[in-house]
Amino acid sequence: MPTIRDIHIDNFFEIVLLEDKIKFLLRYAVLAPSTHNSQPWLFKIENNSCKIYGDTVVYTIEEADPLGRDFYISLGCCIENLIIAAKFFNVYDKVVYRLGENKDLIAEVLFKDNADRENIDKNFEKNLYAILKRFNARGEFKKEKISDSVYQKLSGLNDFDDLKIDFVIDEGKIEKIAELTAAGLRIAYANPDFRKEMSGWINNNFSKKKKGIPGYSLRMPAFISFIFPALIRFFNIGKKLGWLNYKSLISAPLICLISSKENSPLLWLKTGRLAERLMLEFYSFNIKTSVFVAALEMGELYKEVQKVIGIDYVPQFLFAAGYMDFSPKKMTPRVSAESKIIF
Ligand SMILES: Cc1cc2nc3c(=O)[nH]c(=O)nc-3n(C[C@H](O)[C@H](O)[C@H](O)COP(=O)(O)O)c2cc1C
Repeated sequence: MPTIRDIHIDNFFEIVLLEDKIKFLLRYAVLAPSTHNSQPWLFKIENNSCKIYGDTVVYTIEEADPLGRDFYISLGCCIENLIIAAKFFNVYDKVVYRLGENKDLIAEVLFKDNADRENIDKNFEKNLYAILKRFNARGEFKKEKISDSVYQKLSGLNDFDDLKIDFVIDEGKIEKIAELTAAGLRIAYANPDFRKEMSGWINNNFSKKKKGIPGYSLRMPAFISFIFPALIRFFNIGKKLGWLNYKSLISAPLICLISSKENSPLLWLKTGRLAERLMLEFYSFNIKTSVFVAALEMGELYKEVQKVIGIDYVPQFLFAAGYMDFSPKKMTPRVSAESKIIF
């Protein structure tokens, strides 16, 4: 049975109407990562434009994301996928950020209709394939180092003046970040409201739900996936989860931190765009990535992260990168692009 990731480049050239071409590109957009796999995006297509709205009805993640930062980062990741796909097929015109103009409207991506098999931009081909392959890789990384040339090249992908990337390879610093992440998880899980919220976003391995995190994405056996939501809701297992996150982070050869001059929805949106760009680039080198935001979200721990890295910018998004033999049998599900289009 074809899955949501069975997208074939050739099919794009059979499409006549620009509106249908945009719908095709949105199939890449919805494969973006999002907090708790909430997929907080909605699309409105009009002529040569696709407006992106935040889905504030779906997004009820106040405990894990009190500022709304991860909401905008998730939307930024989605916009970046859309732009990468549009650039590959050479139909990208521009993106206009539309925050604050109209309730829930976030941005508008504009397209030009000159798609032709001869015109594709091969520079974006590996990133386009990476969109289909990328998943949030949980567990321990292999000991193998990432060559300097790979991540140094990635610094060049930051074309946002107000964002900064730090690549951390020092084992002592990685360990400190791992400790802060574990501390973040212990703070989060000590709060019953956080646990209640989190438990509502985790599904058992056989669930047909298209939103939320299935147990298998957390590498849980079927039996555990059935009891896990109740377990975290009624018991504080923050220490155990902190330890698991610590172990996986200290195994990583590299941590990537994106920070910005200040906190604002626009900068969070840009952070999401840059984060997805970097994660896809890593995947194109067969390097897997895993997101850990607990040390940035919980209490004042972010100030400790600033000290470890030696920055005064505000840390916004953190992921580990490395080699891992594990490939998931099933990817985390998605709501189809079609059902995210509003009229
Ligand atoms: C802003 C943001 C924050 C996230 N934070 C975490 C995190 O702290 N821990 C974690 O395991 N996954 C985190 N994720 C990963 C999501 O859970 C994951 O993207 C989602 O479940 C979809 O799965 P996929 O990325 O494998 O397609 C985060 C993703 C985003 C975009």
